[in-house]
Amino acid sequence: MKHAVVDDERLVERGPGIWSLCEPFKLLGASFGRRMVIVSRNGLTGVFSPNQDLKRTMDTAFGESFQVDCLIAPTAFHDTYFAEAVSSYPDAKRLVSAAFPSGVDDTAEIHQSWPDAWKETLIPFAIDGMPKIQETVFFDKETSTLVVSDLFFNFDENWDLWTKTFTRMVGAFGEPRMSRLFRLCIKDKKALKKSMEPLLELPVENILPSHGKVVLGSGRSVLFGLYERV
Ligand SMILES: [Fe+2]
Repeated sequence: MKHAVVDDERLVERGPGIWSLCEPFKLLGASFGRRMVIVSRNGLTGVFSPNQDLKRTMDTAFGESFQVDCLIAPTAFHDTYFAEAVSSYPDAKRLVSAAFPSGVDDTAEIHQSWPDAWKETLIPFAIDGMPKIQETVFFDKETSTLVVSDLFFNFDENWDLWTKTFTRMVGAFGEPRMSRLFRLCIKDKKALKKSMEPLLELPVENILPSHGKVVLGSGRSVLFGLYERV
């Protein structure tokens, strides 16, 4: 059996001040994995979609005194370890999607409370037209990298048979594609497309999606392809 091909089962540096780690995660038996991204810019470190046992990951990679300034849950129904991360880093700012289920105290909405230090360098873009999801994607200027949660999956022949079958069933196999599950949540296609248009203007090279393979180099064409297929 082939194994899921990700190069970041351990923390991998994706460029200066940006790291990713994809930990195993199964959905209905399929090897979806889930990728966490860490970005340090202008003196602040943010963790997007914290993994299970974030503290141990951070301590091992950066040392116990390393500070996490912001914990970020970019979308609904995705960040199952957020509360655990909050208890490990109680002083970190908790920035969440407006659709993120409550259960964690003192959260702030991403766009209303985005740190000033990041406004020009780590830029949030809301994906509209999906009120139950309200995903935000983030462009890291310094490395021309886009951080994405569920906007698309990226699975191909290198995954195990059931994962290939499952992702094919949900219309998200072979190349970066929006899954049928994600599409079911679209309430306003026009608004969704309009909100994607600013992304097409960005010099995106790499994309770090939560599920599947990392996109290296072809970020812009991936975004154009997604936009055309909405
Ligand atoms: Fe997800």
